[in-house]
Amino acid sequence: MADFIDSPFCRLVRECGGDAVIFREMLAAEALVRGNKKTLKALDFEQIERPLVQQLFGSDPGSMARAAGLVEETVKPDGIDVNMGCPVYKAVSNFNGASLMREPDKAAEIVRAVKGAIRIPLSVKTRLGWSSPQEVVEFSKVLEAAGADAIEIHARTKEQGYSGRADWEAVAMVVDAIKIPVLVNGDIIDPETAKTALSASGAQGLLIGRGALGNPWIFKRVQTVLRGEKDPGEPSLEDRMSGLRMHAELQIEHYGENGLIKLRKHFPWYFKNIPNFRKYRAQAVRVSTLKELDALIFVILGR
Ligand SMILES: Cc1cc2nc3c(=O)[nH]c(=O)nc-3n(C[C@H](O)[C@H](O)[C@H](O)COP(=O)(O)O)c2cc1C
Repeated sequence: MADFIDSPFCRLVRECGGDAVIFREMLAAEALVRGNKKTLKALDFEQIERPLVQQLFGSDPGSMARAAGLVEETVKPDGIDVNMGCPVYKAVSNFNGASLMREPDKAAEIVRAVKGAIRIPLSVKTRLGWSSPQEVVEFSKVLEAAGADAIEIHARTKEQGYSGRADWEAVAMVVDAIKIPVLVNGDIIDPETAKTALSASGAQGLLIGRGALGNPWIFKRVQTVLRGEKDPGEPSLEDRMSGLRMHAELQIEHYGENGLIKLRKHFPWYFKNIPNFRKYRAQAVRVSTLKELDALIFVILGR
């Protein structure tokens, strides 16, 4: 997830247990190929973050292939993923992200080019379609034929954006139509929704996005329940605050002084459902040191 799933977040997930594959935030192939320093720095990861897949986006098969080759050579992730589902204007107006669903020939060319440039597995993340949820069936066949090793489907169309509910049943059409693994995504927030999404879609796996924000324990919890073991339950407020504190330390270690300012975008997720949070909002938006964060956590926990 762009701007969220960076090295500190991935390390936090590992600290919280669970050995799920982590998909890193998407990076622009063009920026990597041009040697953009900030984008190259975003590739860095610690070995503890594995298994880890780096996602790329772009519309030019040549740049995508060069970027994927460069990523494999420099940081050696466990896989490369191509974004063909992002609905934001910046992506679709540049003919990448979700707009590739309307250009299956170009999408296939990208998959072939990237596949030819790397030795690690290649997956593609897409949606149910641009406007109709049936479009993904033909599109997935094209991606499979071009050489994709797996497909992840956010079970909404581009036109839906994030509205409505994810249609996990629609993913079943793809599971029936292709042989490579399909992972279902959208609105999976706990073991119950994970089980329902898997049984409704018949998918071989699942992807959790927003459900992990402010809740880095979710992967371990879902994996535990899917193995048939006892549900450890929702994290308590104390757990969430200790997760936030750990996240803050990792941010500072990775980004330096600026780390806590960059962490503020995660606050709404950590502070979700805290009664009367309005009272602390002004204090929260000013947090820039660990001392200030500790003071905020102290008042929230009511000590
Ligand atoms: C802030 C934000 C950033 C996202 N960035 C990416 C991204 O970089 N690549 C991607 O494939 N999907 C991205 N997504 C989409 C999610 O991966 C996921 O498909 C979507 O949120 C639905 O799943 P969820 O209900 O589990 O969050 C992003 C979503 C959000 C809310």
